[in-house]
Amino acid sequence: MSHHSASAPAAATSTGPVPPAPRPWWRDAIVYEIYVRSFADSDGSGVGDLPGVRSRLPYLRELGVDALWITPFYPSPMADGGYDVADYRGVEPSLGTLADLDGILDDAHALGLRLIIDIVPNHTSSAHPWFRAALAAGPGSAERARYLFRDGRGPDGDLPPNDWRSVFGGTGWTRVVEPDGTLGQWYLHMFDPGQPDLDWTNAEVRADFLTTLRFWLDRGVDGFRIDVAHGLAKEPGLPDAGLGQQHKLGEIERLPRMPMWDQPAVHDIFREWMRVLSSYPGDRMAVGEVWLDDVVALARYVRPDELSQAFNFRWLFTPWSTADFRAVIESSLQETAQVGAAATWVLSNHDVKRHPTRYGSLARARAATLAMLALPGCAYLYQGEELGLPEVLDLPESVLQDPTWERSGHTERGRDGCRVPIPWSQGRVPYGFGPEGSTPWLPQPASWAGLSVQAQQGDPGSTLTMYQQALRLRRGLFATGGGALGWLELGSPDVLAFTRGGLACAVNLGPSEVELPIGAEVLLASGPLGTGGTLPADTAVWFRTSTG
Ligand code: NOJ
Repeated sequence: MSHHSASAPAAATSTGPVPPAPRPWWRDAIVYEIYVRSFADSDGSGVGDLPGVRSRLPYLRELGVDALWITPFYPSPMADGGYDVADYRGVEPSLGTLADLDGILDDAHALGLRLIIDIVPNHTSSAHPWFRAALAAGPGSAERARYLFRDGRGPDGDLPPNDWRSVFGGTGWTRVVEPDGTLGQWYLHMFDPGQPDLDWTNAEVRADFLTTLRFWLDRGVDGFRIDVAHGLAKEPGLPDAGLGQQHKLGEIERLPRMPMWDQPAVHDIFREWMRVLSSYPGDRMAVGEVWLDDVVALARYVRPDELSQAFNFRWLFTPWSTADFRAVIESSLQETAQVGAAATWVLSNHDVKRHPTRYGSLARARAATLAMLALPGCAYLYQGEELGLPEVLDLPESVLQDPTWERSGHTERGRDGCRVPIPWSQGRVPYGFGPEGSTPWLPQPASWAGLSVQAQQGDPGSTLTMYQQALRLRRGLFATGGGALGWLELGSPDVLAFTRGGLACAVNLGPSEVELPIGAEVLLASGPLGTGGTLPADTAVWFRTSTG
């Protein structure tokens, strides 16, 4: 086993003066999310894999990110793209080996990149040995006590134990056949039936996850992204939630005051986890996937002895309006500051419509990105957003793999449209995603040749170049932390403008062009500026003011 823990990665090209007290690296890092199955396919299977990830690390170094987060690579039947884990301390053979993971760690660290891996504690796969044992052992057994098995309601127990619904559609309960062949108990799955929820009041469950954390920390990972972090603790007694039949994909996960989300007991679990993380050298971190719109509730997850970060999804859902942007930025900064945490920002990930499609144009997406990259805190990028990839809305029904498609009775297409494999080069399908002649697991639109890395590299107007420039500038400008945000009034209610350190950022969210301050020295723009240096609609600019 290789030990990376002692050798913290070298800071990559830090330019500014050395900070007085070292800040943990993640407080203002740029983290790049790799959806492993769609990033790079080394063996022509059509599915991205770990050697593929390893081969592209120099690209990420050049892009200028600080860390990568890789989605689950564990043995899995892939009922939900690997978020159904059958062995938390192994590697899915079709994605690579443990040696490949160690190789990624070695190379990433040598390049000055940190590695965050995904951990999925809310549920296991139904193929996990624990779940198999639970089925075999029958009602009342210690094996069943690791999950949430309950008797059904109604005279024959043929109604689900409560009204909880799966985030992917349909009931949240599945009835099992008991070892004696009769229909028996039900088990809870807030997601797919292939993802049975664990019971986090169970001591064995808690202990086993600590072992898993240590397993990966010993190998040198720098942090964890915690799946469904707000879901581990359930309200005792599993009371009805008052949930109706119809909910859009993901909606249930964001409902406030629900008995399956954001229960007080969840915080103790993470305190225990963080004690383990902080016993390791080198600022190991954890970021929670916490789907709570309430920023105050969200901030509770990042109190000093809890998680390092929680994704700020409210920013992602903010409509294109100056007032809304400003409100979400202000409240996010305020609530995280209250507990001494740093803010996080994210515009795209593997669960949501890519932001050029959400905002209706690439111009707006690029402008929102420049705003995000100027904000204090850490930003998460999703693979392909640096290429300006849109959501693929017209995947043929026959290729859809997201369980949502089936579970919604073919009313919700699900999330495959943001998971289409990355185009690396021009030419023919698979555009460098895999070897010539291989067929990617989701088809890439023909127009993606023109959006490939190869097509954009070195093109001064490309989205890739904008990301590279923004990340390089940010590294230089904010080398000592960047300082606090101050609002700037540019004389138009349609313009969101702020300063931070030596930088000013202005975003025009209105319909017509506006003047920039006299003497503004433009460092970077998300699109062409108007004649005389005006800021057109749907455009953002980074500049230095003559006073700044
Ligand atoms: C969040 C993950 O990002 C998503 O892809 C997955 O379907 C659910 N959690 C369930 O694990």
